Amino acid sequence: MLVLGDVVDDLLVRPLTAVTPASDTRAEIRHRPGGSGANVAAWLGALGVDVTFVGRAGHNSAGEHVSTLQRHGVDPRIAVDRERMTASIVLVLDEQGERTMYVDRSANTGLTMRDIPDDVWRDVAVLHLTGYTFFDPATRPVALGVIAAARRRHVAVSVDPSSAAYLREAGADAFRDWVAGVDVLLPNSVEATVLTGLSDADAAAEQLTASCATVAVKLGGGGAVVRTSDGQQLQAAAVLADVRDSTGAGDGFAAGWIAAWVRGDDLAGRLAAGLEVSARAVTVLGGRPH
Ligand SMILES: Nc1ncnc2c1ncn2[C@@H]1O[C@H](COP(=O)(O)OP(=O)(O)OP(=O)(O)O)[C@@H](O)[C@H]1O
Ligand SMILES: [Mg+2]
Repeated sequence: MLVLGDVVDDLLVRPLTAVTPASDTRAEIRHRPGGSGANVAAWLGALGVDVTFVGRAGHNSAGEHVSTLQRHGVDPRIAVDRERMTASIVLVLDEQGERTMYVDRSANTGLTMRDIPDDVWRDVAVLHLTGYTFFDPATRPVALGVIAAARRRHVAVSVDPSSAAYLREAGADAFRDWVAGVDVLLPNSVEATVLTGLSDADAAAEQLTASCATVAVKLGGGGAVVRTSDGQQLQAAAVLADVRDSTGAGDGFAAGWIAAWVRGDDLAGRLAAGLEVSARAVTVLGGRPH
């Protein structure tokens, strides 16, 4: 199993009082290793899947990212960027539990095909990518190049579109072109709507199977719906969870789904595993397993 994607230093900010603009506000502030791609790899490793992660980080924290991923059982192939810092995201949680994110992609933007050594493909059956690699014009050729390489090697591909805002910016038609022919697409309901213009998740999933053989649309606390190009349809409720921080819910879903897929579970088993691991992800602070 191979994951290619972002490595990020997350800074979680939870104001402890009403925010005072232009002055001081007491807050709880936590540093966490993150990045959607690296989070998926961490969950896969924690689930016991043989997983290699390819990404790029700055000299300031590449070593830390390597060792934290190793702790989860991942084989991290993180290229060290000598000029750029590791990407960082400041994530401000408001009283309603909404997250406002300030994103500096920094080293992620420097990823190239040269950062993907040939030996990472050994024994790989599935490649997973997140939307961010496609949205950044600097790394889009890497996303498309690695999909082409996967095809040549008969490796299946899954993609999480990751961001409704960036999808709108890129345009639905462009993104659908980029992911045409991938095996699994894992949008949330807003992303599915942006991609299809349809507000009904099941109808959107069905429409998306014209370009991707299996589509699972995530519905937050509502679970998920699945459609396949050969006419299967499934849906299931979310697993009951004590929600602490929804960061990484989608990454947990992808990891659960892929883990079940590589061990040969049927469609219902993949969906159940996606729901189960994502329910675990919402109970932990940050986007990774403990
Ligand atoms: N409140 C919840 N209770 C239980 N499970 C949840 C809850 N919220 C999310 N999940 C699980 O996480 C999955 C993914 O969540 P969501 O639909 O928000 O995807 P996402 O938007 O891609 O997530 P992310 O915000 O991490 O990108 C859901 O399909 C569900 O299984
Ligand atoms: Mg998501």
